[in-house]
Amino acid sequence: MTGRSNRPVDKLIVSGGVPLHGAIRTSGAKNAALPILAATLLADGPMTVGNLPHLHDITTTMELLGRMGADLLLDERMEIHANCSNIREFTAPHELVRTMRASILVLGPLLTRFGRATVSLPGGCAIGSRPVNLHIEGLVRMGAEVRLENGFIHATARRLVGTQLVMQQVTVTGTENLMMAATLADGTTVIENAAREPEIVDLANCLNTMGARIEGHGSGRIVIEGVETLSGARYAVQPDRIETATYLVAAAMTGGRIRVMDARPDQLRAVLDKLAETGVEVTAGPDWIGLDARGRSLSAVDVTTAPFPAFPTDMQAQFTALNSVAHGTGTIRETVFENRFMHAYELQRMGADIEVHGNFAVTRGVVRLTGAPVAATDLRASASLVLAGLVAEGETVVDEIHHVDRGYECIEEKLAQLGARIRRVPM
Ligand code: EPZ
Repeated sequence: MTGRSNRPVDKLIVSGGVPLHGAIRTSGAKNAALPILAATLLADGPMTVGNLPHLHDITTTMELLGRMGADLLLDERMEIHANCSNIREFTAPHELVRTMRASILVLGPLLTRFGRATVSLPGGCAIGSRPVNLHIEGLVRMGAEVRLENGFIHATARRLVGTQLVMQQVTVTGTENLMMAATLADGTTVIENAAREPEIVDLANCLNTMGARIEGHGSGRIVIEGVETLSGARYAVQPDRIETATYLVAAAMTGGRIRVMDARPDQLRAVLDKLAETGVEVTAGPDWIGLDARGRSLSAVDVTTAPFPAFPTDMQAQFTALNSVAHGTGTIRETVFENRFMHAYELQRMGADIEVHGNFAVTRGVVRLTGAPVAATDLRASASLVLAGLVAEGETVVDEIHHVDRGYECIEEKLAQLGARIRRVPM
């Protein structure tokens, strides 16, 4: 069997009931790696990007850059050596954009370095319509000419001009696209109401290593002074905070005790506070986080998602799964995306007591979930079903796991390392 993008559709088979114990290492952050790889288009010399996670989105991005004429080499240490001095194609084709919406991140770099870009409009996805109007409006305010035709964004610009941008809504990739566009613009750009996610900070740090002049990244006000050129550099991507938090939730749900190495507790304050509210013991050092469920049952928690530093929407599905086996009633309010409770309906099939009302879900903890064949619709929903399978009675078969493989490097190896009974079955 193959999935929509002709990739083999594997399944994960999970047998519940084993408390997770041990230590794992966090991989590089997918949502930092994708904009940083797009930023290699800005460099007039060779770049090396390290600590990349081995995920399908990374290979998709390599394919996208390769089609544009980038010379790319991926070595055995998962470092990409990229040289974008011979870019001759300025198009992000539909067949790649439809498999990875983050392809939109080549728009700003192509436009500011080469003065032109043709990028397929990323459609919606399971969690929402995912418009990119704020990316486009910002580029137009910087002097780009943009035409939307036949499902493509056609953008040209002699040279972008630094300007004052006030984002109507906090957008992570919108901030990233505009920040990259501003690095080679004529003059200074200020982005107000910018996204503050740690992935923005990682991208800005990488760009500054290349010779960009960016300040304020991590705050809501980013100032970028345009320069003439950016040089190649060597940069290692930061650890994946969402992957880290997902394994911590798995340990909490299974009543286990784990340590996640190469983690960044400073990037997970809201999540760690929420985990502590469930009754588990959370400990942390400069580059590790520990969780000990102390064999107790969890207390349900109330969660409202919002842009960083508030509770991340990418951890919402995992906490919906946690609440489904916690003691008491927990509420989840999703304020970032309009349709991010698809996992609730699959969790219900495993016996979870969840009521979804628009962007609000009320979960009453049950004594046990039962294993079932389930399928997910997006990356984090898939992860929440794997977590549920770790505690459900019997066997859970998670289908469509190409979603999981987009965001979790070697998920079954890492969980098995912690004692889980999980195996991948190629279909
Ligand atoms: C990024 O998506 C992440 N993806 C998402 O992670 C994450 O869930 C999201 O940020 C929020 O943190 C990557 O970084 C590759 P947004 P992004 O633009 O940038 C609306 C995962 O699981 N909006 O911050 O696409 C939008 O509809 C993925 O790893 C507009 O209206 O999210 C949404 O309601 C899923 N117009 C809100 O803003 C725009 O032009 C936030 O979206 C842009 C966004």
